[in-house]
Amino acid sequence: MKLLRLLANLGYGSRKEVAWLFREGRVTDLDGEVLYADDRVPHGQVRLDGEPLDPAPGLVLMLHKPVGYTCSTRDPGRVIYDLLPPRFRLRSPILSSVGRLDRETSGLLLMTDDGQLLHRIVSPKAAVAKTYAAALAEDLRGDEAASFASGTLMLDGEDTPLAPAQLEVTGPRSARLTLTEGRYHQVRRMFAAVGNHVEALHRPQVGALTLGDLPEGAWRLLGEADLARVFSEA
Ligand code: URA
Repeated sequence: MKLLRLLANLGYGSRKEVAWLFREGRVTDLDGEVLYADDRVPHGQVRLDGEPLDPAPGLVLMLHKPVGYTCSTRDPGRVIYDLLPPRFRLRSPILSSVGRLDRETSGLLLMTDDGQLLHRIVSPKAAVAKTYAAALAEDLRGDEAASFASGTLMLDGEDTPLAPAQLEVTGPRSARLTLTEGRYHQVRRMFAAVGNHVEALHRPQVGALTLGDLPEGAWRLLGEADLARVFSEA
């Protein structure tokens, strides 16, 4: 791929804007030799103002999503892209979230520009486990774990039962719930189905990958070992 297109696809600007970067001699190789818009040079050997380029396509990251941000590119309020470098919103292929977390839910959100990987993670066949910590409005009754594990629980307005999910009670009004599906507002609706109400919801883990000490609002690139954890048992 010609460098003009490579940089435009990474979100460094429109083709016209990127063309200026070349004219100004700001794009170089590792030895500082000026590169040109029509050159074809591997991504890793290109520098802009002496700095390596943003990651090449195939980018996978995890974001510690705070409450109050929407998983959308356009929304009148705050969106997850506000937490990433502005260029990431302009990349082609587009950087998308892998599934969604509600605006009021915090936690581990994967994002990638690799469509195949995204589908592998969300595919029901992969049954990637998502773990949630819920704070509840009412005391747990004691029968919720059996109900969630039954494989027969139906959500309002749906016609197929939920796959079995695992509930671990962590306090009178708190629990960890591990699911392999990703239905709309699933955790909130599951607790509503057993007469409770979720007051706060956080996702600390996807597969065996955890947020670790990633601060709220921060993100980090994932490598092969992290990805293998996504597909490992929780
Ligand atoms: N279930 C919910 O209810 N909300 C989320 O954000 C994720 C799962």
